[in-house]
Amino acid sequence: MYLYHFGLRELPFTLTPNTHFFLGLEPHNEALAVLITALQTGEGFIKVIGEVGTGKTLLCRKLLNEIPKHFVTAYIPNPYLKPDELRRAVALELGVRQAQRMSVQLLTQRIQQKLIDLHKEGRSVVLILDEAQALPEESLEALRLFTNLETETRKLLQVVLFAQPELDERLSQTNFRQLRQRITFSYKLRAMTSIEVERYIEHRLQIAGYKGAALFNSRLCKKISKATQGIPRLVNILCHKMLMLTYGQGHFQINTSHLKAAIKDTEDTQLPLIDLRWVFTGIILITLFIGAYLYWDFRG
Ligand SMILES: Nc1ncnc2c1ncn2[C@@H]1O[C@H](COP(=O)(O)OP(=O)(O)OP(=O)(O)O)[C@@H](O)[C@H]1O
Ligand SMILES: [Mg+2]
Repeated sequence: MYLYHFGLRELPFTLTPNTHFFLGLEPHNEALAVLITALQTGEGFIKVIGEVGTGKTLLCRKLLNEIPKHFVTAYIPNPYLKPDELRRAVALELGVRQAQRMSVQLLTQRIQQKLIDLHKEGRSVVLILDEAQALPEESLEALRLFTNLETETRKLLQVVLFAQPELDERLSQTNFRQLRQRITFSYKLRAMTSIEVERYIEHRLQIAGYKGAALFNSRLCKKISKATQGIPRLVNILCHKMLMLTYGQGHFQINTSHLKAAIKDTEDTQLPLIDLRWVFTGIILITLFIGAYLYWDFRG
């Protein structure tokens, strides 16, 4: 691989959402701040929506690492679970013993008791679900019922949903209006701007141990940003392929031909189109130039 060639300690553009590579970009920082503030206020439901590959799972992991100590977290990475399976998964996460064998009724009682015990100890419980767009309808309803458990002053269980925009489409249906009204905080993750893409690439290279001159210049980063529409996962895929191609040729400088080759080989990316503003400016300048020339020619 290209590690030695570029003087890297580790691969800079892997697809695993590893918090070691986290860069505090505006959308991710804002989302974290919204999450922590909302959780402190103790309000039932919170959701974070983001397109595929915008960093939801990474943010989820970051939240798990950074959430204040008095919170107890139950993390469900893959919620394609029926209500009963979801209840058992929550029970297991909360340390309810023998959850696999209990009847639904007993299980619900035990979860409730566990939540009350933790509340008495001054702990708040947060259930975090990634890929929440995959939750079956009945499980979404089961979640809503979970958040009915409350003391006089606060909820015993708060829920954070990380999901692709499909969840919003589903929640807009009338049968979900009760759940929709429970969602007191929501945040929409946006893609990176072209300046952020440049910072992002530099940051990941630096974390991976790169110390040399810039491998991806600003113009190239702008093109990468357009080709990927600022989606972090697509940026990772393209940059990794460009590093491989450059290494394969024994070169050190990455250029547009590497980008073009990487785009050809990558789904969901597209060759940046020529900027039409420049084309129009060019046409206007040429017209003015010809006009001025003909005018002077005519007068002379
Ligand atoms: N702020 C960031 N700093 C560093 N890396 C990031 C950042 N945001 C996203 N990434 C990287 O982008 C890639 C995709 O992120 P992630 O898997 O979290 O996306 P996702 O939104 O969960 O995608 P999906 O919808 O497919 O589940 C990962 O390699 C992740 O490390
Ligand atoms: Mg994910």
